[in-house]
Amino acid sequence: MTNRFASSKLYSSLFSSKVNPFSAACFSTHIVGESPVLVRDFIHAALYDPEHGYFSQRSGSVGVLDRSIKFNQLEGRKAYMKHLDAIYKQSDTSWFTPVELFKPWYAHGIAEAIMRTANLSVPLKIYEIGGGSGTCAKGVMDYIKLNAPTRVYENMSYISVEISSSLAKKQLETVGAVDSHLAKFRVECRDAADANGWGLEQQPCWVIMLEVLDNLPHDLIYSKDQVSSWMEVWVENKHDRSALSELYKPLEDPLIASCMEILNLAKDGTTVGSMAGSVAKNIWAKVFPRPRRCWLPTGCLKLLQVLHGALPKMSLIASDFSYLPDVRIPGERAPLVASKKDGNSSDHSSYLDAKGDADIFFPTDFWLLERIDHYCSGWLKPHEDNSSKKGKKRRTLTLDTSSFMEEFGLPSKTRTKDGYNPMLDDFKNTKFYLSVPTHNIK
Ligand SMILES: C[S@@+](CC[C@H](N)C(=O)[O-])C[C@H]1O[C@@H](n2cnc3c(N)ncnc32)[C@H](O)[C@@H]1O
Repeated sequence: MTNRFASSKLYSSLFSSKVNPFSAACFSTHIVGESPVLVRDFIHAALYDPEHGYFSQRSGSVGVLDRSIKFNQLEGRKAYMKHLDAIYKQSDTSWFTPVELFKPWYAHGIAEAIMRTANLSVPLKIYEIGGGSGTCAKGVMDYIKLNAPTRVYENMSYISVEISSSLAKKQLETVGAVDSHLAKFRVECRDAADANGWGLEQQPCWVIMLEVLDNLPHDLIYSKDQVSSWMEVWVENKHDRSALSELYKPLEDPLIASCMEILNLAKDGTTVGSMAGSVAKNIWAKVFPRPRRCWLPTGCLKLLQVLHGALPKMSLIASDFSYLPDVRIPGERAPLVASKKDGNSSDHSSYLDAKGDADIFFPTDFWLLERIDHYCSGWLKPHEDNSSKKGKKRRTLTLDTSSFMEEFGLPSKTRTKDGYNPMLDDFKNTKFYLSVPTHNIK
């Protein structure tokens, strides 16, 4: 059993039956067409193309458990793993995310965090981006219905923004299991990173994103050695359209440039403020050239820019992988690209292998996420003196999943008889990021 199996995305043994390998192969060259595309556009198509994308073609890309796991009746880790194995064998799904495995307790922890922090004298408004099967939405609404003053539940609204039409439909079914939720819930099937879908919400609100950042498109920059300038990576079709290959272009894209600025990466390949281009370094790079590849979360930057623009008083709760084991793709913050065929899971060594039949997921650099959040709120201005700051400082906190659930959840509900608790013990590679606005402009 791999580490990933014990982490978050858990792969069933039965999931690739719906994929037509012929259409997948054709699709890879169609993504790119005649003209090259940036890596983020390639990834976006591989995951979200309405017909062939990984999330669009599989109704089971986000799994739903028929019923909650009764952790208190399981002896310990071995019994839990056996139980999971049986669930995967019965289910036509690619993986179960933590909100599903630990339902309803995981969503209840999130609802409690919101209730403890929100100003409940104004109507509670919650947005969820990428709600998958709707399990979080239902769990949060159930909890508020049971635990908040009646008027809070009665006046609340929960808006789900979901890019996949099949998952949007599933969310309505899941939430609709409780009649009274339906009047307060709606799902908008659209790309949350597209500014055109949003109006301007001036009231305080909450945004929940669980395992969404990992599937957002990223860009890639490349430098042929330790001192050469960074180049943007594009993907193109080979002349005979038999395969895809990379193409390197000088930096031009504004999202890539902003991401590099937030990371303090200078275009010439050095870190801003370092002893750039020292003679020794140049000689070393000539004698022992080491190509560098650096993945940039441009999809996250774009999404947070849009969210801060549309929801200036939002509070954010995001959870995701902080680390992924056994990544074979080179580069800093590189993704795992995993697919399943005939019951066997395989990790690819090139992201160009993803043809709509593979999940592409990235680790989240939480330090960088916080900087992107401050940058998009207008607080962080790299390379400028502090006097020119216009935005408001946000209060932010990154917590291990276990710390978050110990603080806001009911961990006793996911504990097995011998004390083993998969929600606290198995998700060491995931974290929560909380970010709330303040009135502080200093
Ligand atoms: C890995 S799944 C996680 C689902 C759910 N949050 C959970 O934890 O079970 C990622 C979800 O984000 C959605 N998604 C990805 N990019 C999106 C975007 N730009 N706008 C809206 N939804 C998006 C996917 O369709 C999917 O529902």
